[in-house]
This record gives sequence, C-alpha cells and structure tokens, in this order.
Amino acid sequence: MNSKTADHEVSFPDVSSLETDARDENKEKLFSEEKLSYSETSDTESFKCELPHSGQSGSNGRGKSQPGPPVIEVINVKKSYTLGDMEVPILSDVNLTVYAGEFLAIMGPSGSGKSTLMNLIGFLDRPTEGKILIKGRDIIKLSDKEVARLRGLEIGFIFQTFNLIPRLTALENVELPTYANSREGVDTRKRAKELLDMVGLADRMHHKPGELSGGQSQRVAIARALINDPAILLADEPTGNLDSKTGCEILGMFARLNKDGRTIIMITHDPEIAKYADRVVLVKDGIIQSNTE
Ligand SMILES: Nc1ncnc2c1ncn2[C@@H]1O[C@H](COP(=O)(O)OP(=O)(O)O)[C@@H](O)[C@H]1O
Ligand SMILES: [Mg+2]
Repeated sequence: MNSKTADHEVSFPDVSSLETDARDENKEKLFSEEKLSYSETSDTESFKCELPHSGQSGSNGRGKSQPGPPVIEVINVKKSYTLGDMEVPILSDVNLTVYAGEFLAIMGPSGSGKSTLMNLIGFLDRPTEGKILIKGRDIIKLSDKEVARLRGLEIGFIFQTFNLIPRLTALENVELPTYANSREGVDTRKRAKELLDMVGLADRMHHKPGELSGGQSQRVAIARALINDPAILLADEPTGNLDSKTGCEILGMFARLNKDGRTIIMITHDPEIAKYADRVVLVKDGIIQSNTE
C-alpha cells in the first residue's frame, strides 16, 4: 500500500482549524474486564450492564461535564430516494443539534430512517433538502474531495457488521483509513499499535478478522475509528451482532471514550442500549419524535 496520500498533498485549507481541539491521548486501556460489571437474568434477553462512572452525579448516573458547543447541526433536512418515477420520502424535516462531548443515542424501529440519518450526519450521503453543519461549516458548500477529507479526519465510523477487510490483519485494518487521510506528523503504525493495545488486542495485531471473535472484531473496528483522532464517533447498531456480555464491553468502551471528551452518536433500535447514552432522540417514520435530555 504505497499509494498513501500525505496530508500536505491534499489541498483543503478549511480543515486546519478543525484540528485544533485534539483530545487528550487516552493511554489507559479501554478494555478491561474487571472494570465491567455485568449480570444476566436467565429467563429474558435483558441484561444489566454497569458502565464506569466518575463518582459525580449525571443524568445517566455516570456523571460528566456539560456538553460544549454544537458539533453537528442538522437543519430542516429532508431525504428521499427516487425509485423509478417515484420519489420515496425517507426523512422529513429533521432538526437535530449534537453538542461536543455528548453521548447521544438515535433510537427507532427498523426501517425508520436511522441509518439514512447516520449516513447524512457522517457525510456519506447528501440531503435532498436542508443543511448539515459540522462545527458551524456548511458541508453542502464543500466539494466531494473536501467532504471526504473532513469525514476522514473528524468522524470515526463503527458498524454493526464491523466491516473489517478479511484479508488484512487487525493492524492493517486499523491503519487503513490513514491511506486516504491522515494527520500530519503522526506515526500511523505506532498509533495503530497503541490503539490495539488500548482495546486489549496487543496480542492479536497480526490476526485476520476470520481468527477473531465478534467482540474482538468490534474492538478492532473501534481502534480503526480512532486512528485519525476524530472528534466524533458514529456507531450504527454497534452491539447488534454481539451477545449481551460483549455488547456491555463495547458500551463500556464508548462510555470511557465519551468521558475523555469524544462526542458519540450511537444508533440503536434497542431501548436497553439507548439508555446508556446521555440523551435519546427517537426517530419514527422519518421524523424525530422526541428529544429527551
Ligand atoms: N438507497 C436507498 N434507496 C431506496 N430506499 C432506501 C435506500 N436506503 C434506505 N432506503 C429505505 O429507507 C428506509 C429507512 O432505511 P434505514 O435508514 O436503513 O432504516 P433503519 O436504519 O432505521 O433501519 C427503509 O424503508 C429503506 O428501505
Ligand atoms: Mg439501520
């Protein structure tokens, strides 16, 4: 993979000021079984997953400082797909502000438009109408190349099915996003190793996804999402393919990343999962139905 584009070769002057709020490097291990308390009732699927808390009081019992300024603003957004001659509306008039340092859950039943909304927030797709701002910048005014660079540096994606490349090792998978975009002066190989160590996979670095469990694969995906030190983590049903105990581990990692200042937007259909966020936004039939603090 020698086709890596160095930071300075991509002309994108606007992004430099977005890189000024680098979060503290978290050298602490994100994965630690003893930090997680987990219990399961035998008769139901429900589980109790106790996430680490700081000892202060907070709406979710974990305690944290107040969220900062808006990082994402979705303003009067509509999204429809054209199927043949028909325009099929998916999202209608969505307004949502996500603040720096928030742990937000976007919850709704299957088919309600959650992934469509996540794709818009992550600039993987563009709205049919309306505006999306990241840190006050209107992405609709940027070129595809500029949007790709902004996305590559400022947003880390985590998917239900992990989306790892099977023929690459864990280490290569973590490094992969840096071949398209990377921050100047970062030793990406070193950072990828540190991140794998942080998620408890130092000894699995050279394993391929087929040799890893679901939980380990999702931990690799979290390390990959963090490789360019993004301000925002976008996770679409991140525990959907995991058993309850492993899902609890992943939620614990999100809680710690959020406590360290990273903004987390987690999509889920499951109210039991959504309750670990600070704020839950309900999406139904393409409309945001409630916005609970
Ligand atoms: N590319 C597409 N073209 C047409 N319809 C789509 C497309 N992507 C999603 N949809 C439709 O949009 C609706 C919402 O999908 P999605 O956002 O994936 O829902 P969720 O993630 O909440 O399950 C569904 O009815 C789905 O079939
Ligand atoms: Mg979905």
